[in-house]
Amino acid sequence: MLALDEHVRRILPVGLTGRVTRIVGLTVAVAGFPAPLGAIAKLETEQGTILEAEVVGFSGEETLLLSYGELNGIRRGTRAVLGQSVQGARVGEALLGRIINGRGKYLDEKPPAILPRHISLQAPSTSPMQRPRIDRSLATGVRAIDGFLTCGRGQRLGIFAGSGVGKSTLLGQIARCTEADVNVVVLIGERGREVREFIERDLGPSGLAKSVVIVATGDDPAVLRIRAAYLGTAIAEYFRDTGRNVLLVMDSVTRFALAQREIGLAAGEPPATRGYPPSVFSLLPRLLERSGRTNSGSITGFYTVLVEGDDLNEPISDAVRGILDGHIVLSRKLAQQGHFPAIDILASISRLMTDITPCEHRQAALGIRKLLATYQQAEDLIAIGAYQSGTNPAVDTAIRLQSPIRQFLQQLSTDQAPFTETVSQLNVLGREAGLFNVD
Ligand SMILES: Nc1ncnc2c1ncn2[C@@H]1O[C@H](COP(=O)(O)OP(=O)(O)OP(=O)(O)O)[C@@H](O)[C@H]1O
Ligand SMILES: [Mg+2]
Repeated sequence: MLALDEHVRRILPVGLTGRVTRIVGLTVAVAGFPAPLGAIAKLETEQGTILEAEVVGFSGEETLLLSYGELNGIRRGTRAVLGQSVQGARVGEALLGRIINGRGKYLDEKPPAILPRHISLQAPSTSPMQRPRIDRSLATGVRAIDGFLTCGRGQRLGIFAGSGVGKSTLLGQIARCTEADVNVVVLIGERGREVREFIERDLGPSGLAKSVVIVATGDDPAVLRIRAAYLGTAIAEYFRDTGRNVLLVMDSVTRFALAQREIGLAAGEPPATRGYPPSVFSLLPRLLERSGRTNSGSITGFYTVLVEGDDLNEPISDAVRGILDGHIVLSRKLAQQGHFPAIDILASISRLMTDITPCEHRQAALGIRKLLATYQQAEDLIAIGAYQSGTNPAVDTAIRLQSPIRQFLQQLSTDQAPFTETVSQLNVLGREAGLFNVD
């Protein structure tokens, strides 16, 4: 039995055609072509090839399209035919271990898989009342996160970092070591070389085996980069609906926003905040809200945000931070010291940690956080030898435990830290700091 929207999808394409009237920049305007927003049109080029393009807006009587490929061979009068009126994709178990692009085409050398289900890329949003509370943690295998920024099943966290401070390495490590049943990894706007590096070095064969990787490189058209984000989210939803705990990793949301900026401007939207049109800020929550927990399963989301010049207040960082349930900040200073993963614990927070961790774990994490803050405040004095031990008991404890705390926070990217071990090590640190002596 086909669902109603599947019927509509199959019926609508018949006979809707139009003619190209103008090309402005990368935007193709087609007259007499009332295809809906998001529909895919096929343009028949002079050379007899078919070029696919997506409807991104309307202007007067014209429909505006952005193409998935080069515009060579398109002329005034080129015929446009409606290909697909609802954005959809085929999915199935056989996607695991595969690498695809934003259109669902395989980028690896393996034979095409049989995908039994058809899904829409734009799922209706889940009603807030259908979302159970997040009450269980999801182990990531990274001590600094599991210990201090414990993540819940269905939680959404942002990873904020500048370039080259270890985002890809950390995401690969999490994808390899997490206890999630399935990973969906979306790479948006990376350089082509980095994609291979990420898959082979950071994710590795064991990580890839339980992952679906969706790739749109920086030279892909903006519509494909956006589509990769929607496709990845839809695939994560499919696996969630089969009852699994899914980890959705998106690198990066900034590049998603940049692609939407290109599309918005091409469709005639005015630039608003720092050149970003308003649609960027309405699409971000719609994309990020799709992860989370439902009655069947969960999607835990890790979304990276590029922070240029360590400016955490630029509009995309700001918007994303407001939507998500926590953020992990990677620090260039730590990376330069060779402290990896370069997570700045004091600047990071998991808003759900208190709901999902037992009291002792929480107390230890909070107490050690305070010690880190104390050390940071006194750091200058300590560095120049101006601090006299015995002056302040909190500073004394912070100095005494600085080395074991740092050891706890640092971890080789190849190492997996079991959750229970992480918590017991944290509790040992807590006891050494005298955090549990008060009754
Ligand atoms: N856990 C780690 N252990 C050791 N070195 C690391 C670790 N993480 C990152 N590095 C070092 O930092 C470099 C950059 O890491 P990575 O490629 O993960 O950063 P990135 O933030 O993804 O960079 P880009 O912004 O270019 O995508 C690596 O080549 C490696 O030398
Ligand atoms: Mg990277």
